[in-house]
Amino acid sequence: MIENRQQPQNCRSRFSGAPERVLVNWFWLVGHMLKWSATRFILKINPIRIMATALITGASSGIGEVFAWELAQRNYDLVLVARSEAKLQELAEKLMQAYAIHAEIIVQDLSNPGAGTTVFEAVSQKGWTVDMLINNAGFGDYGSFSDRPLPKIMEMIQLNIATLVELTHLFLTPMRQRRSGTIINVASIAGFLPLPYMSVYAATKAFVLSFSSALWAENRADGIRIQALCPGPTSTQFFQVAEFPATMNGNGGNMVTAAEVVKESLKGLETNKSNIVTGGLKTQIIVNLQRFFPRDFLLSLMESQFKAK
Ligand SMILES: NC(=O)c1ccc[n+]([C@@H]2O[C@H](COP(=O)([O-])OP(=O)(O)OC[C@H]3O[C@@H](n4cnc5c(N)ncnc54)[C@H](OP(=O)(O)O)[C@@H]3O)[C@@H](O)[C@H]2O)c1
Repeated sequence: MIENRQQPQNCRSRFSGAPERVLVNWFWLVGHMLKWSATRFILKINPIRIMATALITGASSGIGEVFAWELAQRNYDLVLVARSEAKLQELAEKLMQAYAIHAEIIVQDLSNPGAGTTVFEAVSQKGWTVDMLINNAGFGDYGSFSDRPLPKIMEMIQLNIATLVELTHLFLTPMRQRRSGTIINVASIAGFLPLPYMSVYAATKAFVLSFSSALWAENRADGIRIQALCPGPTSTQFFQVAEFPATMNGNGGNMVTAAEVVKESLKGLETNKSNIVTGGLKTQIIVNLQRFFPRDFLLSLMESQFKAK
């Protein structure tokens, strides 16, 4: 709906003009801040629901698997999605033995066009209500763009972007009807800055970060949490799958564990933060570099850092 608020004349700011207008504008600002604080307070006293269902994509290893363990511990029933049937089945059985929860698996290649709809229909047919969606499945690919195989690049875009958007749309709609729900979209610190030799991967994560942040703002007043989770280098199979050269395998000792990433993400939900950057001070510096340095300088720096030695 188009806002019918009178525009300030001569391009003056909202906070300039006659004294009464200044007063009105200050009331507007204070009102907006009160509304923001009230929303934060309500979310804080209404922490993550128990006895709910979470659907996790890419649950067969790494960050997704840790999400499964953490949420099972918090009483969530689980729907685990990935391609590796044996790993998913084993994980579901272990989770049900360890906790009084129910875990189902959906074996699905999410890089197939329409895979999100297939998953949503499978969930709907079983009559499950998904309270939390974690779009975690994704992969990277290292190398000079023109040298990398095009089918793999297109598969990455389909998985990291298209299926994530599809699943978000399908599950967000019923969440909005219920006026409750949580969506965590796993982006990356690579989403903050273009990465030479990881060009398409970084661009997919920039998409996820931008998309999820906009949805956070659209939905926050309606009882729905949306988080862009931006891990720094994390100790998982990611670097092997991305075919990183052994000499620069994810900065070696600087990696955090998937457990730390998941802990920070779930903590961030308590105050409904739009994005969570994990990995401590070093990653905070990386994601803020562009505030202080010219873009071309940073791109050259990144190129030298990411070039295979
Ligand atoms: N590790 C890091 O340093 C890091 C940093 C920033 C962001 N991330 C992001 O974190 C997410 C999880 O990655 P991870 O680090 O945990 O790596 P991982 O251990 O390789 O896990 C990737 C998960 O995605 C699933 N997956 C991959 N391709 C799939 C497909 N076509 N269809 C369905 N599932 C698929 C894999 O399961 P199957 O092979 O069984 O299908 C696996 O469960 C990714 O989105 C990644 O971009 C990771």
